[in-house]
Amino acid sequence: MKCTHTAIVIGLFLCSFFSIAEESPPPTPMEAAISTSMPYPSKFIDVLGSKMHYVDSGSGAVFLFLHGNPSSSYLWRNVMPHVAPLGRVIAVDLIGFGQSDKPELDYTFQTHSHYINGFIAALGLKNITLVIHDWGSMLGLDYARRNEKNVKAIAMMEAIIPPTFPMSGYADFGPFGETFKNFRTPEIGRQLLVEQNIFIEGILLNGAVTRKLSETEKNAYREPFLDTATREPIYVWPNELPIGGVPERNVVAVEKVGEWLKKSSVPKLLLYALPGALVNADKAQWMQDNYRNLESVFVGYGAHYIQEDNPEAIGRNIFHWYQRKFPK
Ligand code: BEZ
Repeated sequence: MKCTHTAIVIGLFLCSFFSIAEESPPPTPMEAAISTSMPYPSKFIDVLGSKMHYVDSGSGAVFLFLHGNPSSSYLWRNVMPHVAPLGRVIAVDLIGFGQSDKPELDYTFQTHSHYINGFIAALGLKNITLVIHDWGSMLGLDYARRNEKNVKAIAMMEAIIPPTFPMSGYADFGPFGETFKNFRTPEIGRQLLVEQNIFIEGILLNGAVTRKLSETEKNAYREPFLDTATREPIYVWPNELPIGGVPERNVVAVEKVGEWLKKSSVPKLLLYALPGALVNADKAQWMQDNYRNLESVFVGYGAHYIQEDNPEAIGRNIFHWYQRKFPK
């Protein structure tokens, strides 16, 4: 892997961690199927006085796709077509992300949660199957914990949940510890994330996806954040991770979700890749052993944005798991 980005502290580290990519298997026919464009038309809906962008296709059983930092509904473009034969597929852009509005907000987990609740209510979504990633996982799981009767099933990947989070300190974050410590140090973090756009240029586009993204794909991820003024939401998310007891409200939120996962009978599917960033094989095993009604499935080689590396394996596994759990 060639790391050309000049970002100070994190560049070398990301290159060394993700350079495992060089050992990845050669391209497969699956990769030929990867599309650079979202196959569904854009829609907008008013939520709490702002426009939220989403795509929505089909009818019947509802599948709601939630992304995390710093992506958008675009992340799901190659997964959704595999799930679409099961019903209605909806992917929303979080407020401040993708084509959704960027109002002046604090962009905390709790604020995003408020907008996701509003989005679900505005569309009147019922009996939802959540397909969730990164911070989208905590948003979806927190919704599920509070609204269990409205959630049919959950498929998650690279989730911000126990046993990965809360972390007692940066050492628990392994090779990412130093990077996230810098992101969370105000004077350095803003420089890295707002001025240098490191989460997009250094992590999403140059490290945490193992295949080579095309310029079209890279530009689709860059597009919402061309202006530094738009990058505050990207800066806030790493500061929302519960590390070293801070922020306490998210230590509590993640622990509550962990307890709910242990007792809730809602069917759950964990999709993981290796080496992974937040979930590896040991953590997947722990989740299978400790979370009720959870199956875990390995989908291939990948780091954090595993939908870019393994969309077909993710989509097909969700499709077959759902059909098994809910036979017609
Ligand atoms: C995160 O969003 O938490 C994350 C992204 C890439 C690597 C590790 C963590």
